Amino acid sequence: MSLSKSPLVDIHTHVYPPSYITLLKSRTSIPYIRTFPPSTSHRLVILPAEDTESTSRGRPVGPEYYSIDEKIKFMDVHGIDISVISLANPWLDWVDPADAAEAARSINDEVDAECAKFPGRLFAFGTLPLSGGAEVIGEEIKRLKGLKYMRGIILGTTGLGKGLDDPELLPIFQALQDAKLPIFLHPHYGLPSSVWGERANDYGHVLPLALGFPLETTIAVTRMILAGVFEKVPELQMILAHSGGTLPFLAGRIESCIEHDAHLKAEGKLGKGRKTVWDVLKTNIYLDAVVYSEVGLRAAIQASGEDRIMFGTDNPFFPPLGEEGGKWASVETNYQAIAGALGDGSESAEGALGGNAVRVLNLEV
Ligand code: URA
Ligand code: ZN
Repeated sequence: MSLSKSPLVDIHTHVYPPSYITLLKSRTSIPYIRTFPPSTSHRLVILPAEDTESTSRGRPVGPEYYSIDEKIKFMDVHGIDISVISLANPWLDWVDPADAAEAARSINDEVDAECAKFPGRLFAFGTLPLSGGAEVIGEEIKRLKGLKYMRGIILGTTGLGKGLDDPELLPIFQALQDAKLPIFLHPHYGLPSSVWGERANDYGHVLPLALGFPLETTIAVTRMILAGVFEKVPELQMILAHSGGTLPFLAGRIESCIEHDAHLKAEGKLGKGRKTVWDVLKTNIYLDAVVYSEVGLRAAIQASGEDRIMFGTDNPFFPPLGEEGGKWASVETNYQAIAGALGDGSESAEGALGGNAVRVLNLEV
């Protein structure tokens, strides 16, 4: 890869701050961290599909998950100038409603303080106390706006429990739009385990991560489009993980199904003023470049535009298996896809590698 003139920015990179790790260690149901004797190493179990007796049970969890110094080391190894860190899934979705406000405040303050240790190198997406109800969420949005390094929020697909097409979320989307805080939409729940069949335990994490995650994102955003969220909150900005799941590839089919739906027509939902899937992709949506191939990235670029693509790594997930140190293949694959799709050293590749993120997320201190 040639040297980039804009800073190299990673907008998809996670941490579990130390206090979150402590919380996970105190739990016995998903999400949790525990040892499985006779092994003494800690395992992180966060996905419903990985809490099985098979070898795929959870994943090893070490300092790369919680240490900010490890994050900086990872950035240095990969030439990353700036990271916009986010709490990893499943965020605070599972927190008791009575504890949600305090949990969000302390995690967001902790993450902001970690960013302050490396001024100019770290920014963050905050976490909302979703189980705490609309008022508590609104208060945290106001507070996040005042935290120095916060540049948006990370959100899963469940919202208040009924998905992102829930009308009760509209005031929250409105508050995020007004605060100019983009939503980084990230999957966690995948698809029901039944779709993976009886031999799913033989296949490790592949099916839920490769297919469950992207389809979850695609379904969540399609439901928002169908509910008219982007007409009701027209300047809502969303950054979709994993290049939008399969949304760029399926946009034409989704749009055609909408245009040919007699029920939507009878309800008067196909008339003037409707934003098409393509309109939404080009005005409300940014896509990360965490798709691991030129083919997928080209679809993302065509769907949303080259000025709406942002490099990411998904660190600390997808480390090389069995090698210590050095560059990660998962990261290099995403660099190469950008160079291949946009031209090594080109202005648009520079944008995807950092310029777009600096502009959209205002990454100057
Ligand atoms: N696995 C996860 O659970 N989360 C990620 O972000 C990536 C892989
Ligand atoms: Zn991720």
